Amino acid sequence: MKRVITYGTFDLLHYGHINLLRNAKALGDYLIVALSTDEFNWNQKHKKTYFSYKQRKQLLEAIRYVDLVIPEENWEQKKTDAHKYQIDIFTIGDDWKGKFDFLKKEGVDVVYLPRTPEISSSQIKADLSKKSISGKTCLSHSDIDTNPTD
Ligand code: CTP
Repeated sequence: MKRVITYGTFDLLHYGHINLLRNAKALGDYLIVALSTDEFNWNQKHKKTYFSYKQRKQLLEAIRYVDLVIPEENWEQKKTDAHKYQIDIFTIGDDWKGKFDFLKKEGVDVVYLPRTPEISSSQIKADLSKKSISGKTCLSHSDIDTNPTD
């Protein structure tokens, strides 16, 4: 059985996350998501999440591709997780390309998956706050002009 691990914040779960999780699961048989805790997000990644760790974990656990959710509490744990959870493949979006190649030395395959274009948690937050400042109601993501130069 091939065991795959991925790491991230997964706030305001969106279709880019689902694509990543589907592609990650397709690399093996068992997918572990190491989910950034609120403290790690705030202190190290300088991110304030909309949903709490508990809420983000509950959402991920409801996804069919995800077998186990564990906490990501620091940048250094990847190496120990690889051994603790007997990981065969580490994967993450290609916005992190090259950053985790050091895991190959631990006998882990490292795969950078293509990111889904034009969607991110921070973009959702920015779009919603833009819309609320301009006094309009945001009906859906498709209302947002993703190519404003046209
Ligand atoms: N991801 C992806 N495609 C997107 C957004 C995210 O493949 N459009 C992937 C990331 O590369 C990462 C995982 O989903 O492997 C979790 O990313 P995360 O940083 O939690 O999501 P973002 O939407 O990028 O959040 P933020 O805007 O806060 O960086």
